[in-house]
Amino acid sequence: MARFPKPAEGSWTQHYPELGTGPVSYEDSISPEIYELERQAIFKRAWLNVGRVELLPRKGSYYTKEMKAANTSIIVCRNTKGEVKAYHNVCRHRGNKLVWNDMPLEDTSGTCRQFICKYHAWRYDLDGTLTYVQQEDEFFDLDKNRYGLVPVHCEVWEGFIFVNFASHTEEPEQTLTEFLGPMITNLAGYPFGTMTSRFTYRSEVKANWKLYMDAFQEFYHAPVLHANQTPTAYSKAAAQAGFEAPHYRIEGPHRLVSTSGVRVWEMADEMRKPIEDICRSGLFGPWDAPDLGQMPVGLNPAKCDPWGLDSFQLFPNFVILFWGQGWYLTYHYWPTSFNTHTFECTLYFPQPRTPRERLGQELAAASFKEYGLQDANTLEATQTSIESRAVEEFLLCDQEILLRHLHKETASWIDEYQRKTAGV
Ligand code: FES
Ligand SMILES: [Fe+2]
Repeated sequence: MARFPKPAEGSWTQHYPELGTGPVSYEDSISPEIYELERQAIFKRAWLNVGRVELLPRKGSYYTKEMKAANTSIIVCRNTKGEVKAYHNVCRHRGNKLVWNDMPLEDTSGTCRQFICKYHAWRYDLDGTLTYVQQEDEFFDLDKNRYGLVPVHCEVWEGFIFVNFASHTEEPEQTLTEFLGPMITNLAGYPFGTMTSRFTYRSEVKANWKLYMDAFQEFYHAPVLHANQTPTAYSKAAAQAGFEAPHYRIEGPHRLVSTSGVRVWEMADEMRKPIEDICRSGLFGPWDAPDLGQMPVGLNPAKCDPWGLDSFQLFPNFVILFWGQGWYLTYHYWPTSFNTHTFECTLYFPQPRTPRERLGQELAAASFKEYGLQDANTLEATQTSIESRAVEEFLLCDQEILLRHLHKETASWIDEYQRKTAGV
């Protein structure tokens, strides 16, 4: 296992002196009051990714999304012009949730020309315009033009659909492009749109959303925490080498960690499981990388070689993780309370050309679920431990610099929000 040098001078943390080196508090992960502030200061102000355009394959396609952190449910749809739009999922008559299926609090999706309320059958078209009111004459001076669905700011970048909960009568504080910044927009051109073989899972995690993000912001826990899943010789070698990520980068509210690559198929036989040889897939995905053409300049910006992955952490709760083997995945962490959240993982591959490629993708998807479970298991124990407040300060090493940044960034969004609302 290669050991990678530190940056030319000093440690990673010294390159970002504003983050400091002292112990940190996790009060932001155990306090109901701070969670309420996060909802206002972050989840109602930042651009939030709510999926990809492939979820809306044709005009009239729609899906709903419960957004507990922002205290709403939204409808995301493709209108008759092919544009992606988002609305609050609330009927303008008496406030019924407009689109749902069997269970009112569960998300749904489908295709339609109009949304019809289940209560008194008011109808809205795909542009949110109110088109039909039952017994319209019984109402008083009803101007249907004034009672369309309440829009949510919605923009698309490289097929990723983002929403922003700034009031619909005002512009968000930043455009989506400004918010993303060059570290993320330099990923434009990656063939996201052709990665249509998709595997998704979600789970309810009894831990603060930031604690799970922290679990994917450093990788030196892997040979320890995931020791039983990785081949023994590999984890031993990695643990002995003290696996370090070769590159960290912070830009605005977003973060990147790159790690080195593993050519598991070149390792000794006992390092692999028989199923991995059969499927030609394992320890981080299928072995036969597809030809994806020229990669965007923003990928592997430090030119790590061998390169394994880039994990781009988009503030607040969205991760795009690119694998050197030619596929990517996304993570979303949706807070549901100060100590619970919904975790969503989606793996994206090119369409498999053979049954073996398909099995290779499925093996990767199943392995990632297992990794995720191992991480989540630790988190629930961490959450209950830190809630005891028996220990109030925690130590972060140089490889944990991105954790420092996430918690500091969270605090600074709250500070900024409080200053603004206090009129300072
Ligand atoms: S609440 Fe929707 S039509 Fe009455
Ligand atoms: Fe992990």
